[in-house]
Amino acid sequence: MAVLITGGAGYIGSHTCFELLDAGYDVIILDNFSNAKLETVQRIGQLAGRKPALCEVDLLDCEDIGKVFDGHKIDSVIHFAGLKAVGESVQAPLKYYQNNITGTLNLCEAMKENGCKRMVFSSSATVYGLNRDVPFRENYPLSATNPYGWTKLMVEQILRDLYISDPEWGISLLRYFNPVGAHKSGLIGEDPNGIPNNLTPYIAQVATGKLPHLNIFGNDYGTPDGTGVRDYLHVSDLAVGHLKALEYVIQNKGVEAVNLGTGIGTSVLEMVAAFERVSGVKIPYKIQPRRPGDIAASYADPSKAKKLLGWAAQRGIDEMCSDLWNFAQSNIDAK
Ligand code: WQD
Repeated sequence: MAVLITGGAGYIGSHTCFELLDAGYDVIILDNFSNAKLETVQRIGQLAGRKPALCEVDLLDCEDIGKVFDGHKIDSVIHFAGLKAVGESVQAPLKYYQNNITGTLNLCEAMKENGCKRMVFSSSATVYGLNRDVPFRENYPLSATNPYGWTKLMVEQILRDLYISDPEWGISLLRYFNPVGAHKSGLIGEDPNGIPNNLTPYIAQVATGKLPHLNIFGNDYGTPDGTGVRDYLHVSDLAVGHLKALEYVIQNKGVEAVNLGTGIGTSVLEMVAAFERVSGVKIPYKIQPRRPGDIAASYADPSKAKKLLGWAAQRGIDEMCSDLWNFAQSNIDAK
């Protein structure tokens, strides 16, 4: 059972790769290393006690994708590879549509040509767009508010149309809420290039002294403490969700969208307090104006994941913060 993981050297991909190796799957990582490090692949092998195969390939290179399928018997694909910075997508939409849409089309063509019709797709809660009625359910109307979100929505539609054209496909569309934290070993985790866009890697860089303080984008939302509320999910729980989704698509044809979240909303100030509690490190912050495009609250109804996949998040905010801090201490340099 060889599983191809596109973007498998990335943050969520690397944690998923570990879980699959640990569960006995043979894994091939396909990554162009535009936002990942080769060392991560070595660390995955160290953690799992067995190595994934590695193909340094860009999904915009059809010939190279074909060589990957020629060289390996691939039964299923977990597709993470793509650009994911919301702000960058607004500045460079063509780059995002090219990478995320064309790259996926190239992958699907190669899968089709090789009779590989099982896919778990890395979608996002961002497809719930302008909905306000939390918790978000899979049957909610979908929309997007930025090119990154549109690429996720468009790929979901592409995969639904692919299934309609050939009902032999088994496809899971996993809508993540807010992945945070790191593997408990501290060997793999999130270490974005440049200034982090997301809350928890930013907090980690403040804690290590790399950044002076946290900017809290708005404290005047209609939430209990006025700061934004999100559904933070431990990345190891998220990775196990992919293992469960893979098992499901191997057994079931069709297309299923599934939320991966805890169903619990946590505010920015609550996250800061939790991090300070578990790390013992004070996180100085300044209240800034709201960030354009942010919504007040986003959290999942995770009941479908429980019913369909037999999956539920196991780790709480404190464990997310302690594993985040453990990774940051040994991987994020101060200034
Ligand atoms: C969380 C909360 C901010 C940074 C994004 C993408 C989404 C998904 C997950 C890919 C909000 C506040 C943040 C900071 C802050 N990615 N914040 N100061 O925006 O919920 O979701 O990442 O799929 O597509 O949109 O996550 O971590 O950026 O923000 O106050 O420096 O923290 O306002 O309330 P978000 P986030």
